[in-house]
Amino acid sequence: MKFFIDTASLSEIQEAYDLGVLDGVTTNPSLMAKEGIGGKENIFNHYKAICNIVDNNVSAEVIATDLENILREGRELAKIDDKIVVKVPMIKEGVKAIKQLSSEDIRINCTLIFNAGQAIIAAKAGASYVSPFLGRLDDISMDGLALIQQMVRIFDNYGFETEILAASIRNNLHLIHCAEMGADVATCPLSVIMGLLKHPLTDSGLEKFIADYHKVNSEAVPV
Ligand code: G3P
Repeated sequence: MKFFIDTASLSEIQEAYDLGVLDGVTTNPSLMAKEGIGGKENIFNHYKAICNIVDNNVSAEVIATDLENILREGRELAKIDDKIVVKVPMIKEGVKAIKQLSSEDIRINCTLIFNAGQAIIAAKAGASYVSPFLGRLDDISMDGLALIQQMVRIFDNYGFETEILAASIRNNLHLIHCAEMGADVATCPLSVIMGLLKHPLTDSGLEKFIADYHKVNSEAVPV
């Protein structure tokens, strides 16, 4: 399973990268705005800065919703760095753009997927990744994880090469269930990635090991 971080914060990306388990980054216009990144030059420079931190897979989203401009933006974003994956929304013009851009060897992440039909269309058009937003489905009392399971089954049935990128992951259980179901990628905030490390019994167990060591060793803990 690949781990992507869902943020445009360079410090968070660096922190996750330093952990040694990061396979990529997803951004979106809301995450870029949260970092105060505006204006084409600044946005492109920011994507370049992200690419300079990680090894691969930096999703950069187009803003256009008409075919001509999705294609233009997609090609421009792809030129920033070989690590860029162009993020295209699940709309009719987006599907046409996925077909065209993927034929130009530009990797596409089709975003804003909320049902299996949308995922099938994006996969057939040639997307490298499809991004179902499971947390946002949960937000409206629909079962986000059920969608992941359904997509995994369908993609397995047909051997689709498109990877299922579980997005809008809000907590550890989301991520663990996605792993159980066989999602290819999970993108989540830094808090979720770091939260995977934690268990209260790990903390109390370690505290006791160190205390017991000190009962019979007067010198400091060896380094
Ligand atoms: O990658 C998609 C993600 O950013 C959406 O997450 O938490 O805004 O629903 P959220």
